[in-house]
Amino acid sequence: MVKAPPDHTPMAVDSQESSSFESMMPITSPNQLPIHSMRKKIIQTVFTNDCCIFLGETGCGKTTQIPRFLYEAREKKFKSVLNKKPHRNKNLICCTQPRRVAAISVAERVASEVNQKCGQLVGYSVRFDEAVTRQTKIKYMTDGMLLREALLDPNLRQYSIIILDEAHERTLHTDLLFGIVKQALEYRKKSKKNPLHILVMSATMNVDLFSNYFNQAPVLYLQGRQYPIDVFHVQESQTDYIHASLITLFQIHRSKPLNEGILIFLTGQDEIDSTCKTIKHIVASGTESLEPILVLPLYANMTTMKQMLVFKQTPMNIRKVIVSTNIGETSITIPGIRHVIDCGCVKIKTFNPQTGLELLQVQKISQAQAWQRTGRAGRECPGACYRMYTEEEYEKLAPTPIPELLRCNLATAALQILAMGITNISNFDFVSKPDEKSIAAALRELIYLRAVQASNDNTYELTDDGRKMACFPLDPKLSRCLLASSDLGCLEEMLKLVSIMSVDTIFLTSSNINEKMKMQRQKFTMNEGDHLTLLNVYKTFIANKKTKEWCQMNKINRRNLLRACAIRKQLRRICVELQLNIKSCGTKFSSVRQALAHGLFMNVAEYFKENDYRTINDRHIVKIHPSSVLFGAKPSLVVFTELIQTTKRFIRDITVVEPEWLLESNPDYFKTRLSSK
Ligand code: CDP
Ligand code: MG
Repeated sequence: MVKAPPDHTPMAVDSQESSSFESMMPITSPNQLPIHSMRKKIIQTVFTNDCCIFLGETGCGKTTQIPRFLYEAREKKFKSVLNKKPHRNKNLICCTQPRRVAAISVAERVASEVNQKCGQLVGYSVRFDEAVTRQTKIKYMTDGMLLREALLDPNLRQYSIIILDEAHERTLHTDLLFGIVKQALEYRKKSKKNPLHILVMSATMNVDLFSNYFNQAPVLYLQGRQYPIDVFHVQESQTDYIHASLITLFQIHRSKPLNEGILIFLTGQDEIDSTCKTIKHIVASGTESLEPILVLPLYANMTTMKQMLVFKQTPMNIRKVIVSTNIGETSITIPGIRHVIDCGCVKIKTFNPQTGLELLQVQKISQAQAWQRTGRAGRECPGACYRMYTEEEYEKLAPTPIPELLRCNLATAALQILAMGITNISNFDFVSKPDEKSIAAALRELIYLRAVQASNDNTYELTDDGRKMACFPLDPKLSRCLLASSDLGCLEEMLKLVSIMSVDTIFLTSSNINEKMKMQRQKFTMNEGDHLTLLNVYKTFIANKKTKEWCQMNKINRRNLLRACAIRKQLRRICVELQLNIKSCGTKFSSVRQALAHGLFMNVAEYFKENDYRTINDRHIVKIHPSSVLFGAKPSLVVFTELIQTTKRFIRDITVVEPEWLLESNPDYFKTRLSSK
């Protein structure tokens, strides 16, 4: 059973009294934030050091205020010393974020704080989308974008200050950036005219690790959470965190004023959709007379318009409840949230270097993530966080998440490192070095993909194809699909397909799909599998002039499809630059499947028995996901885009392939594997 207050004693969370704050103010003017009192010190620390590290509790104002402080201070200095603005260098200040939604929403917030539109002084840049103009001086961007810029200019000369925010998340991109900016710093030190300053920020992180890595960089602690948060743990370990979360939710609902919003962290879309349904059902069932609840889901796989609903103010006579994945965990402020319920788990990708397969599964969060989640409750006024795990369980959590670099497929990273001219990956200056097995697995994959060739011991170089593949902001498997389709005369089709694969699902909520929707979707179904089905949707969308009506009628996510169109344009431009053979195969779709086989050859499964398939790579039993058009069809050999672990292991986004295509694409790899059938 979950025990909630008042039976609990809150765990102490240090806080700074903030009686002068008016609760629920829509926009907090910057000088009311605790960070403001440290402005001078912040500016001085950044400008007198090459690199420094700021640790400050969530909500103290790091992300929104510090870039502005630095910009304003620099402008003032230039005005007084030189009496003119710095022209020669671009002098941008960038602040990286691990997630798109954070980069965009923070940029919009800061732009509105300076009474400007986003894209003027303050802008953002995320993959396939940006709001940046010549006026832009403060640029919020995803870490992936800065990494791509580093490919073109490893010394990142257009930036005078680079802020790596949310460093504790240790995303693959941020981790690579640590190594890159460190190298750029060395280079830029030599040039007195255009010095570089690096700032690493987070609310929770291993300070020593970073300080040591950046040659004993000084650490500045930014005091003061904006509002106090009480933290409660369950008294007994819970086996069913959804059930526990629901009980806690209704305890709060019965006892707290309706204007206090609740944010629940769960792990994934299906879980969230079904929990939202349960909450609605309980309120509607009328077994107990409960006040109304407005339930809103929040996960990556939703239209931005729907996501933005959570930021809207709710009427006073209804309680706002948001059920979110970890995308609601960092950087964002959701108005009205006073209570956070944390299930303690997260769904993440892990990689097995032996098999080369990536797996999506639920795991425990780290203490740092627990505090990030807690922090969402105290953004606008005092709050409370209810953890669905005991205090002992909390103590046993890893202090920080395992860096993505240590648990993911390194192929993309390795390709980028090699493209920057570093021929021995092990020599790259990693904050935490991935193990040799993972590096070897990545190189093996890149060799199979014919992107890389070994030269001498431990040194590798890109092949001509590899250099081309590094130009695409894509997983090398998908870049290989593009190159293969250039050879096979179906690049037009593959460009569409890869673009759809780069956006979130184009079907409106794939789970909870009812019979009627299934019927509607059937008209797009291609018997050869999901990829061609997706391609079919894309083509029909274009043929129907991309209209809203058509999308509504067919339950298609228009926004995501429009984004896919924009992505296709950009990828096509790269193909033109690389002088690829941009042709359409008409209706000869087998060449599209063949090209898919060339890129996805490590994701192959063969029919085993009943409803089971076996992956060629590690001979693991998997099932076809019910959302696939091939569900129940039992083709003998398939390639898939995704492997997910729920109650069972499922493969998703699947296409039927012929064994000879696999053999011809990679004879060495399949010689032994396919014959063991
Ligand atoms: O980065 P950090 O967690 O230190 O805080 P921040 O993102 O800079 O936000 C500082 C404060 O600004 C938050 O605690 C909110 O009170 C406020 N804020 C807001 O009300 N709405 C936003 N969209 C962003 C920030
Ligand atoms: Mg922040």
